Amino acid sequence: MALRALARVNLAAIERNVSRLRSGLRPPAGLCAVVKADGYGHGAVPAARAALIGGARSLAVATAEEAATLRAGGIEAPVLVMGAVSDEELPVALAARCELVAWSSRFVDRVAALRSSVGAPAPLRVHVKLDTGMGRLGTRSFDEAVQLAGRIDDAAPALELAGAMTHFASADEDPEFTAVQLARFEPFVVALRERWPGVVAHAANSAATLREPDSHLDLVRCGIAVYGCDPLNEDPLLHGLEPALELSSYVAAVKPAAPGDSAGYGRRWVASGETWIATVPVGYGDGIRRALTNDCDVIIGGRRYPLVGTVSMDNITVEVASPDVVRCGDPVTIIGADGSERVTAEELARRIGTINYEILCGVSARVPRVYHRDGVSA
Ligand SMILES: Cc1ncc(COP(=O)(O)O)c(C=O)c1O
Repeated sequence: MALRALARVNLAAIERNVSRLRSGLRPPAGLCAVVKADGYGHGAVPAARAALIGGARSLAVATAEEAATLRAGGIEAPVLVMGAVSDEELPVALAARCELVAWSSRFVDRVAALRSSVGAPAPLRVHVKLDTGMGRLGTRSFDEAVQLAGRIDDAAPALELAGAMTHFASADEDPEFTAVQLARFEPFVVALRERWPGVVAHAANSAATLREPDSHLDLVRCGIAVYGCDPLNEDPLLHGLEPALELSSYVAAVKPAAPGDSAGYGRRWVASGETWIATVPVGYGDGIRRALTNDCDVIIGGRRYPLVGTVSMDNITVEVASPDVVRCGDPVTIIGADGSERVTAEELARRIGTINYEILCGVSARVPRVYHRDGVSA
């Protein structure tokens, strides 16, 4: 019997995606695998391990807690916490032996003081973030960024200046602005390298990695592409990427519907003729977005069938040809391939005006993840 809901993650696909991405890098760039948000819904620790097997040089997460999760899972590779870390979270970050990003002198001083008080053997590695146009984290001031680098260096041996970073705002849709950002970043890298030649410069996300070799620098920070999804929300196969996650369920009930019968809350679908409805016991509680109401297909037995009616928390309804073709217990593919049919996270995202990232991160914690390598249990 199929599980109610299951996310099957192919770790071999993650390994191959990383090695494919690496093979397209302009030397000397290496790849940092971004495994924040529980590895974009795939499971941070297994995804991190697979990425490292595929040749990732390091890992990145958004929060100190996520770094701690990797360490608790036995991951020893360098981990960069890219996001803001509050005073309360700093001890967690230090205990997780991660690298941090700074954009204010207050933060540098806090980290230095805490690190000195703990008296750890190795310096804490800090990257300075220049905001070249993302308008989120980082300082917009070149001078302040250079001063911060000096302040980090002054805090040796508690701290060590590790890197110079920036983040692209629209590498997926606006190459000109990406070039502008890169042009703003380069003088900063040059300035830092004059004093600290070993500083690691990094800027590119998945979209820039695929589209802008000039942006590869020393390190690219790839997330979505590692999981085999397309940063441009196109078909991942066009870039040789293999989606690693498949989301499935099964047919729990099949029943006839007569003209005028409806399915789901709000009666948003009403049968216009004699037909059959299969109920699949997954819903928005599992990450099937409610906006997909009356607007996506699932695959059963290698054929697409339309989701009809409102997506509820725990069930969706699907119009099927007949009870002879679709039977109780049949596996249902919600994201993934079956026979020659395929539903991608990109397709679901396009239908509801969002991005594949949100579809993947949306697969909820109540869906068990099962790991395999090309079909062999991992
Ligand atoms: C600072 C930073 N770098 C890299 C990434 C990875 O981006 P992507 O998943 O598009 O490769 C992210 C993700 O949002 C990020 O916030």
